Amino acid sequence: MTNLKVLFVASELTPIAKVGGLGDVAGALPKYLKEDVDISVVIPAYQAIKEKVEYIPNSKVKIHYIDIPEYFSKRDKIYGYTDDPVRYAHFDVEVVNKIKDGAFGKVDIVHINDYHTSWIPILIKDRNIDGIKTILTIHNLGSTYQGRYSLDLLDHLNLSQIHPSVEEDKKDGEINPLLQGILNASIISTVSPTYAKEILEKEYGGDLDYFLNQRKDDIYGILNGIDTTIFDPKTDPNIYVNYDLSDYKEKKATNKIRLIEELNLKFSSSQPLYSFIARLDAQKGVSILTESIMLTEITLLTKSLQNVRQDSINFLFLGTGDEKIASKIKEIEASTNDVKLEFTFDPVLAEKIYAASDVLIIPSKYEPCGLTQMIAMRYGTLPIVRETGGLKDSVEDQINGFVFKEFDEVELKDVILESFKIFGTSKWDEMVKNAMRKDFSWDKSSKEYVKLYKKMTGIL
Ligand code: GLC
Repeated sequence: MTNLKVLFVASELTPIAKVGGLGDVAGALPKYLKEDVDISVVIPAYQAIKEKVEYIPNSKVKIHYIDIPEYFSKRDKIYGYTDDPVRYAHFDVEVVNKIKDGAFGKVDIVHINDYHTSWIPILIKDRNIDGIKTILTIHNLGSTYQGRYSLDLLDHLNLSQIHPSVEEDKKDGEINPLLQGILNASIISTVSPTYAKEILEKEYGGDLDYFLNQRKDDIYGILNGIDTTIFDPKTDPNIYVNYDLSDYKEKKATNKIRLIEELNLKFSSSQPLYSFIARLDAQKGVSILTESIMLTEITLLTKSLQNVRQDSINFLFLGTGDEKIASKIKEIEASTNDVKLEFTFDPVLAEKIYAASDVLIIPSKYEPCGLTQMIAMRYGTLPIVRETGGLKDSVEDQINGFVFKEFDEVELKDVILESFKIFGTSKWDEMVKNAMRKDFSWDKSSKEYVKLYKKMTGIL
């Protein structure tokens, strides 16, 4: 272990304050980094945290909780307030105050994540703290994830100097915390090599591509891993029956039967189960999925009317989010027994679905990394993904999943039908085995972060 001292600052931390993929990364990556650097984690002291444990479970990574009662411990939700950017600006100020006071001891690197922690680099400059490098990891550049706010936000930061990046940002009458992170962090990383390239393009740059291009030489793409100790079909206590490569076939079938029983589905366990597990929002591509399901149903129905094949595909959705999207799925649900929506956010049910499904569909418009395709593969469930971001970097077409190119319902329908043709053949078995064998642990990626840390501090 080098004596590099790293402070990893995030707005979520699985399992202590779990919301999404960012929390999963914050809860896992530092555990692996701990083998190589001296790292601790800082998060807000949310009311939702029932027990403020001292360490990330099963590790020696210390957690520091920062409370500003009016913004954190007195609020019952983690996110979802109109003043969220104000809350996190105060959090960042407090983190930097504590760094300055020496409350975390010596700090060489502050590793920040997304807009919530993006004021930290400029605050470090503003408070004249020397000798600290910063790395910003972007988990999602979408325009709703940048923390944009009115200029009043600046009143909460007490900046003591004029900063060119703030002056530039103010011109459009708004302030953009993520942009401040992009312009002021020593280096930037994002969660897959492909997304690191995509964000330089207009289509994926969330209107910040111009600034990202200015920093092009400082942007790195490192693929996320998953916590393979939690996501393991051999030991996962949440699934109906455990399995591994030696007995997945019969055990996955049992998981499917049990899931159909538990959810009272009208599905047939002999037909393939295709699932979708994600937030119901536009980024996740639900619109092309619902269209393609209708097209698939029509094709299968025509075939069975012609007596070519008498079969169907069952589609299960798990997620909450946009009401309009949900009602579109409900509409299809009302017209067929093959489609069902479970409108809930339930991580335990999600794991049961990974174990029971044959296919997981991830038709995202963009996907910085995506963790569900990796979890699915580990559970022997083949992913169908669009060729973007981390999906492109983790799935190989017809080797361990299926990949389609354009964001288009006809292409998606074609790949669904193509996979359906292969279902039940020896090629399918080979693909499932390839998927289950693939190494998605953090071992490899965490080493890449360590390399970056060393490079930033001049050790390499
Ligand atoms: C965000 C991204 C997702 C990524 C996750 C963790 O949720 O949308 O693609 O996997 O962050 O980095």
